[in-house]
Amino acid sequence: MTAAIVIGANSSIAQSVIERLLSDRKVEHVTAISRNTNPDLQSKFASSLRWICCDYSEVAIKQVCISLHAQEKNFSHVFICNGLLHSAQVAPEKRLEDINTEKLQTIFHANTIVPMLWLANLAPLLKSEIDCSVAVFSARVGSIEDNCSGGWYAYRASKSALNMLIKTASIEFWRRAPNVKLIAFHPGTTDTQLSKPFQTNVPKGKLFTPKFVASSLLEIMESLDRDGGAEFIDWQGEPIPW
Ligand SMILES: NC(=O)c1ccc[n+]([C@@H]2O[C@H](COP(=O)([O-])OP(=O)(O)OC[C@H]3O[C@@H](n4cnc5c(N)ncnc54)[C@H](OP(=O)(O)O)[C@@H]3O)[C@@H](O)[C@H]2O)c1
Repeated sequence: MTAAIVIGANSSIAQSVIERLLSDRKVEHVTAISRNTNPDLQSKFASSLRWICCDYSEVAIKQVCISLHAQEKNFSHVFICNGLLHSAQVAPEKRLEDINTEKLQTIFHANTIVPMLWLANLAPLLKSEIDCSVAVFSARVGSIEDNCSGGWYAYRASKSALNMLIKTASIEFWRRAPNVKLIAFHPGTTDTQLSKPFQTNVPKGKLFTPKFVASSLLEIMESLDRDGGAEFIDWQGEPIPW
């Protein structure tokens, strides 16, 4: 039975990914993991969706991965969607004076540490006879080479650090589980809670729906070769400089 894991499952894009995977029968079963439940999706796909609530502590992540191991499924798709740009306490920095310890720690924890703890703990589950694509949600602003506009220190740097961790992990995966392909994915500016305060200057036609992004990502995952390298790519499948 082919199966998928979607982490950060209450992200708007993640919800569209789950809908797409199960409506199109791309996989037979999805395990969704989030801090909160989602009664609508859970009742819509009651027979094919297992929903796990997790506070993303290291202990809880390990426990979830142990329970996934017991399911004995072959995972063909993994999506790690966690990301934080702003909250009631945190706004992206416009200038150096806006930087502080708490902000850096909060953003790095959500964007870098939590996704990497998942990837590390999932590693033993993903080695199998079938190909497995792992999309970790990054952002173009995490590209060091592409950084022309500055600002958003914590968010940018947390995604750059995430990219480095993905690239480094891909070298180990190639040795330990060559069936796994790692993708650092930039969805483009997508109409979600995360981008809401920053949508004013988005050019016409460049604010994507979560549905569009989910479909694009699934097509890209089908098309990529398992060549042992990690890819940093956007919603069109175009490479982004690391
Ligand atoms: N929207 C855009 O324009 C855009 C552009 C570039 C990159 N991205 C990236 O795309 C991904 C999905 O974002 P989205 O646009 O769908 O945003 P969203 O709807 O706001 O989803 C936020 C995601 O982050 C998780 N999350 C929130 N706070 C967290 C915390 N403190 N610790 C750990 N996880 C936390 C949520 O998990 P729960 O399920 O547990 O709530 C959810 O998966 C993110 O990685 C984001 O950086 C988005």
